[in-house]
Amino acid sequence: MSKLETVLLTGGAGYIGTHTAVEFLNAGVNVVIADDYSNSSPKAIERLEQLTGKQVVKYGVNMCDKAAVRRIFEENRLDAIVHFAGYKAVGESKALPIQYYRNNVDSALVVCELMQEFGVNQLVFSSSATVYGDSQNVPFEEDEPTSCTNPYGWTKLTIERILTDFVEANKEKTDVNKDVFINDLSVTLLRYFNPIGAHASGLIGEDPRGPANNLMPHVARVAVGVNDHLNVFGNDYPTKDGTCVRDYIHVVDLAKGHLLACQKATPGLHTYNLGTGKGYSVLEVVETFERVNGIRIPYVFAARRPGDVPESYANPARANKELGWRAEHSLEDMCRDVYNWQKNNPQGYGD
Ligand code: UFG
Repeated sequence: MSKLETVLLTGGAGYIGTHTAVEFLNAGVNVVIADDYSNSSPKAIERLEQLTGKQVVKYGVNMCDKAAVRRIFEENRLDAIVHFAGYKAVGESKALPIQYYRNNVDSALVVCELMQEFGVNQLVFSSSATVYGDSQNVPFEEDEPTSCTNPYGWTKLTIERILTDFVEANKEKTDVNKDVFINDLSVTLLRYFNPIGAHASGLIGEDPRGPANNLMPHVARVAVGVNDHLNVFGNDYPTKDGTCVRDYIHVVDLAKGHLLACQKATPGLHTYNLGTGKGYSVLEVVETFERVNGIRIPYVFAARRPGDVPESYANPARANKELGWRAEHSLEDMCRDVYNWQKNNPQGYGD
């Protein structure tokens, strides 16, 4: 693959995008960020620049706006793209499926079309363990059959499908595809488990707009007194303590997975789970957060949340072996770093 000098991070102002930008910048790679700030803050980019002492090139664009995105390709010599941009709330996707398909699928198509137009041959896509659907065949391996239980998940799986066809079509140049053929196309699908944690500096972290959907932002908001208690959804699952089990992964480990995926890219399609391989229950997360931070998190048991599977955790062996990637942070680290971020920024980026 060509030397990795400049990478485009779509959705780069978001939670995972900012942490990934830090890893690329620290590795000496130039970063271009495209973000419409619909679920993120421009301040997050200022913070990551402060943190790394480096500048990024920023574009306030929506990734479905092909003309605006084309300018990014014209103005920068991109070696790789990491496509994070997308809507990501499971519950909201059930109410707004058309908006989810339009936004998530369209933006991915715009990226592919511009890769064809400009001959960019490296893409990393932000996929999710949600593609394992309601399977209970844990730990999940990458060749587990895929399916989904909500429109958000289906957008991820649909894009995986599109990218699979994209790679297939670029294996051989023919009379039919010669005008759009990409030499040595490399696409990596990264299936994230449950990213939590924050950069140890406390300068960047997760700042969901409006009501939080996921467990850790709720715990963090209770910890700093923004909310008075946590609802634990269900305590009668067939798990170690009756609450759901997930594979929580530190966002910095996840970010490093993206850097390695770009550095180690080879032509073809590659799919990797990014998880620790360990499952923790909701109560274990709460207990760990309390112990590490010396703080109480009051909680009550509430009804099961529709669509939750009892257990989800990864077999990360393929990423270990092929990328040389391994999650290094413990659940203790994740809980400590979340609290550090939230204490320093009780209102997130504050805008
Ligand atoms: N939970 C609570 N209380 C809360 C929030 C969550 O008890 O206030 C529980 C959930 O019921 C679940 C666990 O905490 O048992 C984890 O829930 P999250 O919402 O944090 O994470 P999910 O595993 O449901 O979903 C995450 C991502 C999705 C992705 C999925 C892939 O948010 O985008 O992992 O498995 F699709």
